[in-house]
Amino acid sequence: MDSEKAKLKEFWNKRAQGFPRYNEAKDSYENSILQTAMDLGVNFKGQRVLDVGCGSGMYTLKIALMAQSVVAVDISEEMLEISRLDSQKLGLENITYVLSDWADFEPKGQFDVVFCSMCPPTKEDPAKAKLIEVVGSGSLVYIGFKQYTDPKPLGILIDHYNLTRKTFQSGPDMRRWLEGQNLKYKYVERNGHWTNEYSREVGLNWCQNMLSDLGCPSPDIELIEETLKPFWIDEIKKYRVTTPYSIELIVYGLG
Ligand SMILES: C[S@@+](CC[C@H](N)C(=O)[O-])C[C@H]1O[C@@H](n2cnc3c(N)ncnc32)[C@H](O)[C@@H]1O
Repeated sequence: MDSEKAKLKEFWNKRAQGFPRYNEAKDSYENSILQTAMDLGVNFKGQRVLDVGCGSGMYTLKIALMAQSVVAVDISEEMLEISRLDSQKLGLENITYVLSDWADFEPKGQFDVVFCSMCPPTKEDPAKAKLIEVVGSGSLVYIGFKQYTDPKPLGILIDHYNLTRKTFQSGPDMRRWLEGQNLKYKYVERNGHWTNEYSREVGLNWCQNMLSDLGCPSPDIELIEETLKPFWIDEIKKYRVTTPYSIELIVYGLG
């Protein structure tokens, strides 16, 4: 494996603990996103679905509860392990997990629905084209940032270390690419706030990992702890971080 790929894998492996995972609440953010896709005409029921960059399974399991089968691909074994554990708890046997970089993934045929949420490698054009290839005559659900905002404690630390922020506009990028290929799509925009809760250890590791990814290899752990302090909720013994989001849900392939 080349060193860039190994770095990417390590970054996502470190993010796995504390990453949003299956949550049975009916009023969850991910339920509202799946409902939006269905309102736009996507049908998951009884379908063969591919989940690209499935992460720790926040959507994968909900989709598997409706679909005939799900192939869930991710570069991070730690992410897949969390999703696998949660699917075992639910007794779901229709998910096939594939540890692979999207670029190396060799699909066996096409899928009725390809689902791809917040998966960074799809910013490359060949990766986008591969999504369309595997959709065949089915549909693609693509979720990307309209605009990315740093979670607050991280923003403070990024400014402190004078690091260059990553910018994501994966939603508009995807729409531009589809238009360039003369492919028709529908899309909706959603804005709101995500809330994440991190134990002390996971919160500190999360900040360290994000800062080192931006080029600060050994951030000061005491400074991180001090910056996270206002976000500590004593009743739950966790940091609670609320981040504004602005995303786009794009659907291609509904005719
Ligand atoms: C922001 S998370 C999104 C997870 C999930 N789709 C969701 O919306 O909750 C991005 C996921 O893409 C995966 N990923 C990053 N680069 C990848 C690549 N080149 N090939 C496959 N998966 C990748 C990461 O491991 C991570 O699980």
